[in-house]
Amino acid sequence: MSDKSHSKSNYQRNILDNLNTSVVLLNADLHIEYINPASENLFQISSRQAAGAKLDKIILVEQAFKSRLLYAINNFHPISEHEACITLPDGREIIVDYALNPLQLADQQMQLILEISHMDRHIRIAREEKLLSEQSATRNLVRGMAHEIKNPLGGLRGAAQLLERELPSEDLREYTQIIIGEADRLQSLVDRMLGPNNLPKKRNINIHQVLEHVRQLIQVELTEDDHIDFTLDYDPSLPEIMADSDMMIQAILNITGNAVQALAGNGEITYKTRPLRHFTIGHTHHRLVLQTDIIDNGPGIVTELQEHIFFPMVTGRAEGTGLGLSIAQSIINQHGGLIKMSSHPGKTIFTIYLPLEYAHG
Ligand SMILES: Nc1ncnc2c1ncn2[C@@H]1O[C@H](COP(=O)(O)OP(=O)(O)OP(=O)(O)O)[C@@H](O)[C@H]1O
Ligand SMILES: [Mg+2]
Repeated sequence: MSDKSHSKSNYQRNILDNLNTSVVLLNADLHIEYINPASENLFQISSRQAAGAKLDKIILVEQAFKSRLLYAINNFHPISEHEACITLPDGREIIVDYALNPLQLADQQMQLILEISHMDRHIRIAREEKLLSEQSATRNLVRGMAHEIKNPLGGLRGAAQLLERELPSEDLREYTQIIIGEADRLQSLVDRMLGPNNLPKKRNINIHQVLEHVRQLIQVELTEDDHIDFTLDYDPSLPEIMADSDMMIQAILNITGNAVQALAGNGEITYKTRPLRHFTIGHTHHRLVLQTDIIDNGPGIVTELQEHIFFPMVTGRAEGTGLGLSIAQSIINQHGGLIKMSSHPGKTIFTIYLPLEYAHG
């Protein structure tokens, strides 16, 4: 091995050693080839003890889990699961998110990478419950306020129109027009604050058509000085989803519009779609889920905003209303889906998960 490749593999090993995620490398017979230190910690076993042992040595492999492992290997297909329960040999049960990724390097036997992130279920549920109750409290407050503003607005606008008809001089129309124009602006703001009111009109739609539509809407808004490139990484094998096309366009437009604003005329937006097998959204386990990522290489979301980014009225822009993401979230929730965000300078990802199995139901 040359010095260079030696130091490269040391470097890669170093990364694995420092990951918080547990990584287990398995061969096709489900024997352990390697575990990283995070796995040593989680499973209370040294990598030397683990190497060569059956997976059972660290996880009690029940039938459902085994069939997923075999499915991933036999079909060379990645699988991930959210909030899965796994049992350790000492009987302890832990809740984890895991991903199975088959790997085949040239002239080597097939291997399987098992990545596990452990999250204490109680902490997670408590945190999600707190978030949900905060969200619904804020939403109620916002809707209440929006209703209170909406009612007198109609009267205000009507009175300005009546006044306009009685004006002694045309010059004064300028003022009534301001009242009417501002009342209309406020009206559309409160309509947005109230959010989508109708139930989604679901039919079979192609997610790629939705994404393409949004891309065109964005592109016609760009000027000659803007250099925003779109990278499209679509999985063409994806089935259609049962969804309200206009609502999906709205949700994806809100997210992409933010990315365009963050890029300030220069950067790249990536649309990526993938199927996910065996994925849990909330408490529901789905056989097939559509994952759509909207990625930009802009400056990232300000750290202080990140925790509450989906709340209404949370904005980092002077002229922003802070409604775009909360509307996107309620649309995705109405479709039984989930929306997540991760952001740091140079990479912001909004991920939408939507259940797929009823697409043809
Ligand atoms: N891709 C992104 N990169 C950087 N910051 C972002 C990104 N997406 C959202 N943000 C931040 O999140 C804030 C909230 O976004 P949201 O769409 O909810 O409201 P807004 O864009 O401020 O206003 P509105 O969409 O209602 O006009 C934005 O103001 C911005 O600071
Ligand atoms: Mg926005």
